[in-house]
Amino acid sequence: MRHIVTNKNVQINYFYTNFKKMSENEFGKTIFSTDPNAETRKQDHIDLAFQSQVNGLSADPRFYYEPLLSAHPKDKYPATNLLGKVFRYPIWISSMTGGNKMAGQINENLARVCKDFGLGLGLGSCRQLLTDHTYLRDFDVRKYIGDQPLFTNLGIAQIEIMLMNNQVDKIDKLIDLLDADGLIVHINPLQEWSQPEGDILRQKPIDTIEKLLEKINHPIIVKEVGQGFGINSLSRLLQLPLAAIDFGAFGGTNFSKLELFRNPAKREIHEVMAYVGHTATEMVQMTNELILSLGDKLKCREIIVSGGVQNYLDGYYLTKKLSVPSIYGQASAFLRHAMGDYENLFQFVEAQTEGLKIANAYLNIKE
Ligand SMILES: Cc1cc2nc3c(=O)[nH]c(=O)nc-3n(C[C@H](O)[C@H](O)[C@H](O)COP(=O)(O)O)c2cc1C
Repeated sequence: MRHIVTNKNVQINYFYTNFKKMSENEFGKTIFSTDPNAETRKQDHIDLAFQSQVNGLSADPRFYYEPLLSAHPKDKYPATNLLGKVFRYPIWISSMTGGNKMAGQINENLARVCKDFGLGLGLGSCRQLLTDHTYLRDFDVRKYIGDQPLFTNLGIAQIEIMLMNNQVDKIDKLIDLLDADGLIVHINPLQEWSQPEGDILRQKPIDTIEKLLEKINHPIIVKEVGQGFGINSLSRLLQLPLAAIDFGAFGGTNFSKLELFRNPAKREIHEVMAYVGHTATEMVQMTNELILSLGDKLKCREIIVSGGVQNYLDGYYLTKKLSVPSIYGQASAFLRHAMGDYENLFQFVEAQTEGLKIANAYLNIKE
């Protein structure tokens, strides 16, 4: 009996398996081999034609589609050099978790997939490790990630306190403990304010970051957690000797909104504050403008475009659009596939990399 595959993942896997077979074989052999599925395929075409109309929908306005100018890609995707290392694909797994029941398995899976595909990983907040090593195993993933970039993570509130108490050496110790390549500092005043147990910032985050940079020799990345940075904040960050700026833009997981779910009384009044911020698209545009206007004052020249990046095509577009070296980051998209078997995550990332290769072969960015 004929069977039309309806499950999206199965459909995707079917496509990749067949696409791979084709690209691995000699094309001559593929073309002239028998075609045992022809009859069912032809029937599928008739059955599916009416539901495959796109009238009334617009084509993605971001790209020129050039079907004439490439064969199906067989070569490697062009590597990106960022954070002093090589990314085989321009993908960053944004900071998430550690210190709970599921975290060890999630982080192990994420680290393994970074090694297998040449990606980079930001750890979730490592605050617990500053005082207690009970959950060290959750974060201790260098053995799984190999030499790919691995960054530890702390909030601006903790950095402020460490600077106040002359305890910045704790950061060096943390980086050594995890054999990390550097530190990500998340800047999250609205999250802290929305969180029932949130910290109060006594200093301007920019002052804290500047002081930190004076005291520490390791690479530092600065990020937001789902609302991005406005033009003046972005401008200040671009003028600092940071290893990279990670947008953590508005449009996906939003930590003010998340914390307000944990804080219903506050939510009723203050939910409006969860909807301020800047999307990754807006931030790419602001960054390009600032890079032009800052001239010699520009010190940070590497960007992780993240926050609301829904799929590889968004990531491909936004990184190509930026005028400095960049990769794209996703958190929730990876989390969905990292909680179970490694195989599931592997297949998800494999599909992303196939999509990137196809995009690279057939799509040009409209300026
Ligand atoms: C479960 C979860 C936990 C997170 N924890 C952290 C964290 O500890 N530190 C941090 O800097 N960002 C954290 N984030 C924010 C992400 O790094 C990212 O900036 C944000 O989720 C937006 O990306 P997305 O839209 O792709 O999910 C977390 C995100 C998720 C989904």
